[in-house]
Amino acid sequence: MSAFSAEAMKRAAARAALDSVTHGMRLGLGTGSTAAHFVDLLGARVKDGLDVLCVPTSERTRAQAESLGIALSTLDETPQLDLTVDGADEFDSRLRLIKGGGGALLREKIVAAASTRMFVIADATKEAQTLGAFPLPVEIDRFGARSTILHIERAGRGLGLVGPLTVREAAPGERFITDGGHYIVDCAFGAIDDPEALSARLSAIPGVMDHGLFIGLATAIFIAGAEGVRIIGNISGDSI
Ligand code: A5P
Repeated sequence: MSAFSAEAMKRAAARAALDSVTHGMRLGLGTGSTAAHFVDLLGARVKDGLDVLCVPTSERTRAQAESLGIALSTLDETPQLDLTVDGADEFDSRLRLIKGGGGALLREKIVAAASTRMFVIADATKEAQTLGAFPLPVEIDRFGARSTILHIERAGRGLGLVGPLTVREAAPGERFITDGGHYIVDCAFGAIDDPEALSARLSAIPGVMDHGLFIGLATAIFIAGAEGVRIIGNISGDSI
């Protein structure tokens, strides 16, 4: 797949999700290259008069939205949102996700959890039978990082998951720091057969701020492929 067609698919997914955005909505804005397409298209609608109030999930997205004249808020001012639209690194048919490739997973999860609905926009290459081909990002406090990494290793091993754990770097020798001031550990566990169990184990580790398994948060996934955009889940927000 060419770079152009991948970008075209991301934009198609973003455009399809934008159809559900209506006047007066409070929106969460995701982070990453796919979410950036959504923010860009939303900016054009705002320029045409659409009135929405948005909470960004990263400083990067905040800067983009600001530059497009999109009205911004914070979760302190606007603690409940109608809809969050975000990308994903992987998803499965049960709407479980791996996120955090862009390093914004903690804020993304907080914003998604504050939203009535979460739409994921992705190209079809992100679809997985079993999550885990994409190394699972885990956001950890800088204090005690080595101990926390040992706990993460143990948590994985307890479920038969072993694989290199790498502290993410922004440049060689320079650790990546999230917007919240934390490290990211990328866990190359391979296939995660029981994401719920791993999620529970990781969440129980004191130094783990959060992890990239998003379970029970996405309400619909817009999957763009060569034949168009397919939706799994429920876009209406009514319970299925
Ligand atoms: C950001 O932290 C991530 O969760 C992104 O949503 C995810 O990495 C998808 O990014 P792309 O749309 O750039 O693939």
